[in-house]
Formats: sequence, C-alpha cells, structure tokens
Amino acid sequence: MYSLIINGGVPLHGEVPISGAKNAVLPLMAACLLTREPCVIRNVPDLSDVQFLGRILTSLGAKVRFAGDSVAIEANRIQSFADYDLVRRMRGSICLLGPLMGRLRRAEISLPGGCVIGSRPVDLHLKGMRALGAAVAIAGGYVKARAKRLVGAEVFLGGRAGPTVLGTANVMMAASLADGVTVIQSAACEPELVDLANFLNAMGARVSGAGSPTIVIEGVKQLHGAEHAAIPDRIEAATFAIAAAATRGEVTLTGARPDHFHAVLDKLQEVGARVDRREGRLTVKGTRELQPSDVTTQPYAGFPTDAQAQMMTLMTQARGISIITERIFESRFMHVSELARLGADITIEGPSAVVKGPTKLSGAPVMASDLRASAALVIGGLIARGQTRVRRIYHLDRGYERIDEKLRRLGARVKRVQE
Ligand code: EPZ
Repeated sequence: MYSLIINGGVPLHGEVPISGAKNAVLPLMAACLLTREPCVIRNVPDLSDVQFLGRILTSLGAKVRFAGDSVAIEANRIQSFADYDLVRRMRGSICLLGPLMGRLRRAEISLPGGCVIGSRPVDLHLKGMRALGAAVAIAGGYVKARAKRLVGAEVFLGGRAGPTVLGTANVMMAASLADGVTVIQSAACEPELVDLANFLNAMGARVSGAGSPTIVIEGVKQLHGAEHAAIPDRIEAATFAIAAAATRGEVTLTGARPDHFHAVLDKLQEVGARVDRREGRLTVKGTRELQPSDVTTQPYAGFPTDAQAQMMTLMTQARGISIITERIFESRFMHVSELARLGADITIEGPSAVVKGPTKLSGAPVMASDLRASAALVIGGLIARGQTRVRRIYHLDRGYERIDEKLRRLGARVKRVQE
C-alpha cells in the first residue's frame, strides 16, 4: 500500500490538465456491451476503477484493449454473469445490469453491497428493469434478472434521496433495445448521463431529454459500434479549484467544463475566491480572507455530494461558522475525524457538520477512507504547516489520475511512498 507525504503551506500555482470523467467512462464502457460491433471510448483516465471495469467486461467475454487515453471494446460474444469477487470491489459495476438486459435479456450481477458512504441500495435499478418487463429476483447476494421481451414503459425513478444516476443509466441502456417507447420520470440530470445519451445515439439509439428530469427512449432493434470522447471530470476539476482557494494560490484548470460545476464555482466566489473564465480557460484564485458559507448537497445541478468533503476542508479556513449538510448519502462524514487530527474544529449534528474557522491546521498522519474523503485530507495536508501523511491512498487512485504528479506540477511538496 502507498501513502502520500505532504509538506503543506505552499500556495498552488500554474496549470493543471483535467482528465476524462470516471463517472462518465464507467457507464460508457458498460454501454459497449449493447452491440457486438467494436467501440472506442477516448479521453479515458488511467484509474483503478476504469481498469477494474475493463477486467469485469473481459470476464464477461468482451475484448478490452486500453491504449493511451483510449479503450477499445468489442463485445461480440458475452455471458450474463458478473462474479461477486469482482463486483463487490466496485459499486459502479451495477451499471452492467442495463446493458446485459438490453443485449441478452438476462443478467446475474452480485449485489454491490454497502460502502463507507452508505448502504448503496439498488431498489430503483430493479424497479426500472421490472417496468421494462423483466422478472427480477435477489438470491444468494445476486440480482437475477430475466425477460422474454423488454417492452417500453413509463417509470418514475425518484427515490428517498432524489434521482439515481446509475439507475437512470441502466434504464436508458436497457430501454435502447426494448420494443416501444420508455419514459423515465424523475431521471437524474448529471452531465455524465447526457454524455451516455450522446454515445447511445451515436450507436443508433433514440434517446432524448437527457439532462432533464424526463428522458424518452425509443427502442430500436440493434445498435452499431461507435467512437466517443468522454467529458472532462467535473469532480476532479472541483477538487483542484477548491485546493487553489484553500492554499490561496492561483490555478488554471485546462480542459474543464465550467458549465458542469456551476454550483461549486458559485460557492467558491461566495466565500471570496476569484473565478475567471476567459477564452475557454478557467482560473481560480484564492484570497487571504475566506467568508463562511452554508452548503447542502443536492442532485445535479445543486452542489455535488462528491465535492462535499473537499469543501468542508476549505471551510475550516473561513472566518466564522459554516454548516455543511449531506442530503444524498447517509454517512459521508468519514473525513471529519481525520480533519480533526489536523486541527479542524468540526461538530456533526445529524446530517450536518458545523465547521468553525479559521483553524490553523498542522500536519499529522491521517487515514483515507473513501475516494472523496481522501481528497479532502490531501487538501488539508496542503494547507497544514508541517508534514501530513495520508495513508491508504488506493482510495484516491480510484478516482484521481496521478494526483501527486499533478499537485507537484502546481508547486506542492507531495511525494508517494510505499507504506
Ligand atoms: C453515482 O453513484 C456516482 N458514481 C457517485 O460518485 C455519486 O456520488 C452519486 O452518483 C450521486 O451523485 C458513479 O457514477 C460511478 P445514486 P450512484 O444512485 O449512481 C439512493 C464518486 O465518488 N439510491 O445517484 O450509485 C442512494 O442510496 C461516487 O465518484 C436508492 O435509494 O448513486 C443515494 O442516497 C461516489 N436506491 C442516492 O439514491 C437506488 O436504487 C443517490 O444515489 C439507487 C440509489
């Protein structure tokens, strides 16, 4: 296992290239199962989650070849069984359900199981498959779905915490090859789903309304191969934008799509950072005095839950009290106790964290827990005086491409060491 050693207190300066979006590439790769023809996805980040989904697709019988920032996938002959030992290690593999149902009319996928941020139920995914005519049972920890035919239907996918991103993706993919028209009500609106709809349409599907709460999919007989470049990672971009503000530096995010994370940029401006968008360049500049602010995570286009932990670290430096409320997942405050080890003053009150600032952070050994909590600890280490050691950074490598190299290019004193 590896750790990051960070000697903080250095403002970040320079340009950072934003990689392709993990949360777009995973469903895009899964969608390649919908055709026996070869597909190519470009702008693919070098992440363990992406490599891992490639392994799962290979285990299903697909040919998967990574080359540079592209992946070629040919699913000429595939099986419908996704093994527990593979699936349990990545919740996102539930996005195989829709394509397997669309292509084979059957799927056996291990239930993803919970993770540190919550129980990760799939009831809405199953509701979507049943709406299309599938018989779905849960047995032995597996989702077993079968259908003689998939028939288009109207389905409401809103859950207790709002829409489901991968649930919407699964229904879009299965419905692309169903008979008739499917209407998804209360669909998730994330940019990654717009990206998926664009790829499906390039394959010959007929998807409209992606990015809005109502998505219409007119089923077709079959889909053909296509090439597609994934959108940039809005959460990686948000993470570096917050790190720029937190270290009072000035960072230009090349290749980012500001329109994909308005809520984060708006909040950064509200607390006092400067955000400049000129000729397609996005520059974030920190200021000496940060103002407190309240943040509540919401479905897109609200403030993203995947940037909540990083924002909390920033708010430890604001002069006053900030209240950060997590409305999407039931336990996404794993970073709070670790930030306290750096000197943060945060109290959890139910779904909210009360952050008192500014607090002087000083380096300490901390433990990464989930992908975005780890990013929050890295930002804490960049702020803190002295040395911070972030352990178990395999969590980080799941969702951030070469984050230590990118930070060093911005002047940070960061190195990766074997534990
Ligand atoms: C996607 O997960 C992302 N992952 C997550 O990013 C992200 O946090 C999440 O969307 C919310 O934006 C990928 O795209 C690979 P959901 P997903 O279904 O689709 C509840 C990261 O850090 N729910 O939108 O699995 C669920 O418990 C990861 O990159 C049900 O109740 O999330 C949660 O409270 C973490 N029933 C809420 O909905 C269901 O059937 C949103 O979950 C499904 C979900």
